[in-house]
Amino acid sequence: MGKRIRQAKLYILATALLLLMEQPVLWDLYRPSATASANASLPAGPFVALTFDDGPKPETTPRLLDGLSRRGVRCTFFVLGVQVEGNEDLLRRMANEGHQIGMHTAHHKALAGLGPADFSAEVDQLRFTLTALLGPEDYMLRPPYGMISHAVEDRAASPLILWSVDPEDWSDHDAARIAAHIVDNAQDGDVILLHDIYDASVDAALEAVDELMAKGYTFVTVEELFALRGVTPENGKVYRRLPPESGT
Ligand code: NI
Repeated sequence: MGKRIRQAKLYILATALLLLMEQPVLWDLYRPSATASANASLPAGPFVALTFDDGPKPETTPRLLDGLSRRGVRCTFFVLGVQVEGNEDLLRRMANEGHQIGMHTAHHKALAGLGPADFSAEVDQLRFTLTALLGPEDYMLRPPYGMISHAVEDRAASPLILWSVDPEDWSDHDAARIAAHIVDNAQDGDVILLHDIYDASVDAALEAVDELMAKGYTFVTVEELFALRGVTPENGKVYRRLPPESGT
Protein backbone atom coordinates (compact mmCIF):
# COMPACT_ATOMS: atom_id res chain seq x y z
CA MET A 1 0.00 0.00 0.00
CA GLY A 2 2.78 2.45 0.99
CA LYS A 3 4.61 1.58 -2.19
CA ARG A 4 1.51 2.26 -4.28
CA ILE A 5 1.03 5.68 -2.64
CA ARG A 6 4.69 6.55 -3.27
CA GLN A 7 4.22 5.54 -6.90
CA ALA A 8 1.07 7.66 -7.13
CA LYS A 9 2.92 10.64 -5.61
CA LEU A 10 5.80 10.17 -8.04
CA TYR A 11 3.35 9.97 -10.91
CA ILE A 12 1.62 13.19 -9.83
CA LEU A 13 4.99 14.91 -9.39
CA ALA A 14 6.16 13.76 -12.83
CA THR A 15 2.92 14.92 -14.43
CA ALA A 16 3.14 18.30 -12.71
CA LEU A 17 6.76 18.70 -13.86
CA LEU A 18 5.79 17.76 -17.40
CA LEU A 19 2.96 20.28 -17.36
CA LEU A 20 5.28 22.98 -16.00
CA MET A 21 7.84 22.19 -18.69
CA GLU A 22 5.27 22.18 -21.43
CA GLN A 23 3.33 25.20 -20.33
CA PRO A 24 5.52 27.89 -21.92
CA VAL A 25 5.62 25.86 -25.12
CA LEU A 26 1.86 25.47 -25.23
CA TRP A 27 1.44 29.11 -24.44
CA ASP A 28 3.74 30.06 -27.32
CA LEU A 29 1.84 27.80 -29.68
CA TYR A 30 -1.48 29.45 -29.19
CA ARG A 31 -0.35 33.00 -28.62
CA PRO A 32 -0.68 34.80 -31.93
CA SER A 33 2.33 36.96 -32.78
CA ALA A 34 2.08 40.74 -33.05
CA THR A 35 1.84 40.35 -36.82
CA ALA A 36 -1.00 37.89 -36.53
CA SER A 37 -2.92 39.92 -33.96
CA ALA A 38 -2.71 42.92 -36.26
CA ASN A 39 -4.59 40.87 -38.82
CA ALA A 40 -7.96 40.80 -37.10
CA SER A 41 -9.54 38.92 -39.99
CA LEU A 42 -7.49 35.80 -39.27
CA PRO A 43 -9.55 33.07 -37.56
CA ALA A 44 -8.28 31.00 -34.67
CA GLY A 45 -7.05 28.00 -36.64
CA PRO A 46 -6.16 25.16 -37.04
CA PHE A 47 -3.73 26.36 -39.70
CA VAL A 48 -2.06 24.58 -42.58
CA ALA A 49 0.22 25.80 -45.38
CA LEU A 50 -0.18 24.61 -48.95
CA THR A 51 3.08 24.73 -50.90
CA PHE A 52 3.59 24.23 -54.62
CA ASP A 53 6.93 23.32 -56.21
CA ASP A 54 8.42 23.23 -59.72
CA GLY A 55 6.31 26.01 -61.28
CA PRO A 56 4.99 28.32 -62.28
CA LYS A 57 3.50 26.86 -65.45
CA PRO A 58 1.23 28.98 -67.69
CA GLU A 59 -1.00 25.97 -68.50
CA THR A 60 -1.87 25.13 -64.89
CA THR A 61 -0.86 27.82 -62.38
CA PRO A 62 -3.37 30.52 -63.48
CA ARG A 63 -6.31 28.14 -62.91
CA LEU A 64 -4.96 27.39 -59.43
CA LEU A 65 -4.63 31.12 -58.73
CA ASP A 66 -8.22 31.69 -59.91
CA GLY A 67 -9.51 28.96 -57.58
CA LEU A 68 -7.47 30.17 -54.60
CA SER A 69 -8.59 33.74 -55.20
CA ARG A 70 -12.27 32.72 -55.22
CA ARG A 71 -11.72 31.01 -51.86
CA GLY A 72 -9.61 33.80 -50.37
CA VAL A 73 -6.75 31.36 -49.83
CA ARG A 74 -3.06 32.23 -49.96
CA CYS A 75 -0.28 29.72 -50.30
CA THR A 76 3.44 29.43 -51.00
CA PHE A 77 5.12 28.77 -54.34
CA PHE A 78 8.70 27.45 -54.46
CA VAL A 79 9.56 28.37 -58.01
CA LEU A 80 12.24 27.22 -60.44
CA GLY A 81 14.46 29.83 -62.10
CA VAL A 82 13.88 28.24 -65.52
CA GLN A 83 10.13 28.61 -64.99
CA VAL A 84 10.41 32.24 -63.92
CA GLU A 85 11.96 33.17 -67.26
CA GLY A 86 9.15 34.10 -69.64
CA ASN A 87 6.52 33.89 -66.88
CA GLU A 88 7.34 37.17 -65.16
CA ASP A 89 3.75 38.44 -65.35
CA LEU A 90 2.53 35.24 -63.73
CA LEU A 91 5.07 35.68 -60.91
CA ARG A 92 3.91 39.26 -60.37
CA ARG A 93 0.30 38.08 -60.25
CA MET A 94 1.16 35.44 -57.63
CA ALA A 95 2.91 38.01 -55.46
CA ASN A 96 0.21 40.66 -55.98
CA GLU A 97 -2.48 38.21 -54.89
CA GLY A 98 -0.71 37.71 -51.57
CA HIS A 99 1.00 34.40 -52.18
CA GLN A 100 4.46 33.84 -50.79
CA ILE A 101 7.21 33.18 -53.32
CA GLY A 102 10.15 30.97 -52.39
CA MET A 103 13.06 29.34 -54.21
CA HIS A 104 13.35 25.79 -55.56
CA THR A 105 16.72 26.41 -57.31
CA ALA A 106 17.34 27.59 -60.87
CA HIS A 107 17.34 24.15 -62.53
CA HIS A 108 15.93 21.69 -59.95
CA LYS A 109 19.40 20.57 -58.93
CA ALA A 110 20.12 18.36 -55.91
CA LEU A 111 21.99 20.91 -53.82
CA ALA A 112 23.71 18.41 -51.55
CA GLY A 113 26.14 17.46 -54.30
CA LEU A 114 27.11 20.94 -55.45
CA GLY A 115 30.29 22.93 -54.82
CA PRO A 116 30.11 26.57 -53.73
CA ALA A 117 30.05 28.08 -57.24
CA ASP A 118 27.36 25.72 -58.53
CA PHE A 119 25.33 26.17 -55.35
CA SER A 120 25.47 29.93 -55.80
CA ALA A 121 24.39 29.62 -59.45
CA GLU A 122 21.34 27.63 -58.34
CA VAL A 123 20.29 29.60 -55.27
CA ASP A 124 21.90 33.04 -55.14
CA GLN A 125 21.19 33.63 -58.83
CA LEU A 126 17.50 32.78 -58.36
CA ARG A 127 17.35 35.03 -55.30
CA PHE A 128 18.84 37.81 -57.43
CA THR A 129 16.28 37.19 -60.20
CA LEU A 130 13.34 37.22 -57.78
CA THR A 131 14.63 40.32 -56.01
CA ALA A 132 14.91 42.14 -59.34
CA LEU A 133 11.38 41.06 -60.28
CA LEU A 134 9.48 41.29 -56.99
CA GLY A 135 11.68 43.31 -54.69
CA PRO A 136 13.78 42.36 -51.69
CA GLU A 137 12.11 39.65 -49.62
CA ASP A 138 13.30 36.83 -47.41
CA TYR A 139 13.02 34.18 -50.10
CA MET A 140 12.84 30.83 -48.33
CA LEU A 141 14.43 27.80 -49.95
CA ARG A 142 12.95 24.41 -50.63
CA PRO A 143 15.80 22.12 -51.67
CA PRO A 144 14.85 19.80 -54.57
CA TYR A 145 14.08 16.23 -53.42
CA GLY A 146 14.29 17.53 -49.85
CA MET A 147 18.01 16.74 -50.03
CA ILE A 148 20.02 18.60 -47.45
CA SER A 149 23.54 18.40 -46.04
CA HIS A 150 25.63 20.46 -43.65
CA ALA A 151 27.06 22.29 -46.66
CA VAL A 152 23.55 23.11 -47.89
CA GLU A 153 22.61 24.41 -44.46
CA ASP A 154 25.78 26.52 -44.32
CA ARG A 155 25.38 28.01 -47.79
CA ALA A 156 21.60 28.43 -47.93
CA ALA A 157 21.39 31.98 -46.49
CA SER A 158 17.66 31.15 -46.22
CA PRO A 159 15.46 29.00 -44.01
CA LEU A 160 15.11 25.50 -45.51
CA ILE A 161 11.46 24.55 -45.79
CA LEU A 162 10.62 20.87 -46.16
CA TRP A 163 7.12 19.44 -45.63
CA SER A 164 5.09 17.17 -43.39
CA VAL A 165 2.28 15.97 -45.70
CA ASP A 166 3.22 14.52 -49.08
CA PRO A 167 0.42 13.08 -51.21
CA GLU A 168 2.99 12.26 -53.97
CA ASP A 169 0.84 14.08 -56.48
CA TRP A 170 3.39 13.49 -59.25
CA SER A 171 2.94 9.72 -59.10
CA ASP A 172 -0.57 9.03 -60.40
CA HIS A 173 -2.28 12.36 -61.18
CA ASP A 174 -5.41 11.04 -59.47
CA ALA A 175 -7.07 14.19 -58.10
CA ALA A 176 -9.55 12.35 -55.85
CA ARG A 177 -6.80 10.26 -54.22
CA ILE A 178 -4.49 13.27 -53.77
CA ALA A 179 -7.26 15.36 -52.19
CA ALA A 180 -8.24 12.49 -49.87
CA HIS A 181 -4.60 12.06 -48.76
CA ILE A 182 -4.38 15.75 -47.86
CA VAL A 183 -7.72 15.83 -46.04
CA ASP A 184 -7.02 12.59 -44.14
CA ASN A 185 -3.51 13.60 -43.03
CA ALA A 186 -3.53 17.37 -42.53
CA GLN A 187 -3.16 18.58 -38.94
CA ASP A 188 -2.59 21.95 -37.33
CA GLY A 189 0.83 23.29 -38.35
CA ASP A 190 1.36 21.02 -41.35
CA VAL A 191 3.18 22.04 -44.50
CA ILE A 192 1.65 20.26 -47.50
CA LEU A 193 3.70 19.46 -50.61
CA LEU A 194 2.11 19.76 -54.07
CA HIS A 195 3.19 20.72 -57.59
CA ASP A 196 1.30 23.37 -59.56
CA ILE A 197 2.46 21.91 -62.87
CA TYR A 198 -0.22 19.19 -63.05
CA ASP A 199 -3.95 19.67 -63.71
CA ALA A 200 -4.79 16.89 -61.24
CA SER A 201 -2.80 18.66 -58.51
CA VAL A 202 -4.73 21.88 -59.11
CA ASP A 203 -8.05 20.01 -58.89
CA ALA A 204 -6.89 18.15 -55.77
CA ALA A 205 -5.64 21.29 -54.04
CA LEU A 206 -8.93 23.14 -54.54
CA GLU A 207 -10.95 20.09 -53.45
CA ALA A 208 -8.80 19.71 -50.31
CA VAL A 209 -9.14 23.43 -49.57
CA ASP A 210 -12.94 23.16 -49.73
CA GLU A 211 -13.05 20.09 -47.50
CA LEU A 212 -10.57 21.37 -44.91
CA MET A 213 -12.17 24.83 -44.79
CA ALA A 214 -15.48 23.10 -44.11
CA LYS A 215 -13.72 21.41 -41.16
CA GLY A 216 -12.58 24.80 -39.85
CA TYR A 217 -9.04 24.92 -41.22
CA THR A 218 -7.45 28.16 -42.31
CA PHE A 219 -4.86 28.21 -45.09
CA VAL A 220 -1.85 30.45 -44.58
CA THR A 221 1.51 31.03 -46.22
CA VAL A 222 4.61 29.49 -44.66
CA GLU A 223 5.67 32.95 -43.44
CA GLU A 224 2.28 33.44 -41.80
CA LEU A 225 2.55 30.05 -40.12
CA PHE A 226 5.89 31.12 -38.60
CA ALA A 227 4.36 34.41 -37.44
CA LEU A 228 1.32 32.70 -35.95
CA ARG A 229 3.58 30.39 -33.94
CA GLY A 230 5.84 33.23 -32.86
CA VAL A 231 8.79 31.43 -34.47
CA THR A 232 11.48 33.48 -36.23
CA PRO A 233 12.70 31.59 -39.30
CA GLU A 234 16.47 31.09 -39.19
CA ASN A 235 18.76 30.85 -42.19
CA GLY A 236 20.22 27.39 -42.68
CA LYS A 237 17.70 25.77 -40.34
CA VAL A 238 15.45 22.98 -41.61
CA TYR A 239 11.68 23.15 -40.99
CA ARG A 240 9.24 20.39 -41.80
CA ARG A 241 6.22 21.72 -39.97
CA LEU A 242 5.64 24.39 -37.38
CA PRO A 243 4.84 23.60 -33.75
CA PRO A 244 2.99 21.83 -32.04
CA GLU A 245 5.74 19.50 -33.30
CA SER A 246 8.59 21.85 -34.06
CA GLY A 247 10.69 21.32 -37.16
CA THR A 248 14.32 20.38 -36.58
NI1 NI B 1 10.73 19.77 -57.13
